[in-house]
Amino acid sequence: MFTHGNKNESQSKVDFMNQAFIQNPFPVYEHLRKEDPVHRFLLPSGHFAWLVTGYEDVSTILQDHQRFVTNPPYVQESHGSVPPHQEIISRNLLSVSPDDHRRLRRLIQKAFTPRMIERLRSRIYEISNELLDQVLAKGKREMNLIEDYAFPLPIIVICEMLGVPHKDQIQFREWSNIIMEGFNNPELNEQSDQVMRAFVEYLQTLIADRRQSLQEDLISDLIAVEEEGDVLSEQELYALVFVLIIAGHETTVNLIGNGMLALIENPAQKQLLLEQPELIGPAIEEILRYNGPAEVSNIRWATEDVEFGGKHIRKGEMLFVSFSSANRDELHFPDPDTFDITRKVNNHLAFGKGVHFCLGAPLARLEGEIAIHELLRRMPDIQFKEEPEPLKWRPSMIIRGLYEFPVRF
Ligand code: HEM
Repeated sequence: MFTHGNKNESQSKVDFMNQAFIQNPFPVYEHLRKEDPVHRFLLPSGHFAWLVTGYEDVSTILQDHQRFVTNPPYVQESHGSVPPHQEIISRNLLSVSPDDHRRLRRLIQKAFTPRMIERLRSRIYEISNELLDQVLAKGKREMNLIEDYAFPLPIIVICEMLGVPHKDQIQFREWSNIIMEGFNNPELNEQSDQVMRAFVEYLQTLIADRRQSLQEDLISDLIAVEEEGDVLSEQELYALVFVLIIAGHETTVNLIGNGMLALIENPAQKQLLLEQPELIGPAIEEILRYNGPAEVSNIRWATEDVEFGGKHIRKGEMLFVSFSSANRDELHFPDPDTFDITRKVNNHLAFGKGVHFCLGAPLARLEGEIAIHELLRRMPDIQFKEEPEPLKWRPSMIIRGLYEFPVRF
């Protein structure tokens, strides 16, 4: 049986539910990188885990697929004791065994190709402009950048790609918000369990419909995908669609939101991008490094006792790596707290590294580039609605994003 650590140890410095930390985690990360780069901390669930914060260590862990794996031990031990909807979700790419992961990733890559993503360019451009038209039609010269623009754009894109009907898209927002905030927040456990059940039931119906008549969408492609006689099982298909919807909802919205925040807070950089729109590619990379949407990784489990960073990590213990911290590591990036869209070397870890490197990175980059480019083109004077604006960050250990972002233009 795998241990989860001793619940009675004293509370450590990192508290992902602490308001000051949620608002600005970077000073704590800097302190940890210097004083305790492999840090034992208490999860909100009451279990202990390790948090790794330095660039080199994070990079090593993400690529050491022998000693640090993403599949939780209970999956092999469940023997049917896990509820069906949890079992389905546990079949997702970030929690299956390394062998299953290799097989799934190969199959999915056949349906989710860079060429297919590139074909979405004109549709993403259209959606961005439709959303901006709707804002301008209100005649108020202000908006909530998250609600009115950053959020609907990636949802519409992923739902259209998958073939999810328009009328169901609002419901998806509520579900995915609860699931993300419920991660490691015991107070939301029950609610998030109910939501997962409803979500999976919805997917079962949607996929059953599609099996009756395949269409021009990703779900149909995934049903049809096959390699050397290998196909996605029913459960794997649910889990994959589930993870694409969650990832498609919860990350790109914050690439757009966090990116516009960095640009508005750094007016010289915004001006540079307005004058040289061809810098949008490097600007997106700098946004990902400076304040990327994925703050902390999914869980890694130690498969054996490991000496790492001067600490003894025991077999079965949980580790998290902080992408946000690694991307501000002063030993790797000169002037890490400066937002500079002309940064020469920018090998950030915002999409992870190793075999779990983000499957959606080409799509996220394309959406981010088009969304920010079009927003600046049509609203070049975009500003905080009121200054100083006390913006509120969402309380999630995994995702770094704003609740709302009122702007004028
Ligand atoms: C800016 C937006 C995004 C960021 C910052 C991001 C970040 C990440 C990161 C850091 C990981 C690795 C997690 C880990 O190793 O623990 C990951 C994995 C993943 N992402 Fe993204 N992501 C983004 C957008 C997307 C989109 C739009 C999709 C799909 C539509 C997507 C699908 C996935 C999938 C399926 C995985 C699991 C891959 C695997 O385990 O093989 N992501 N993402």
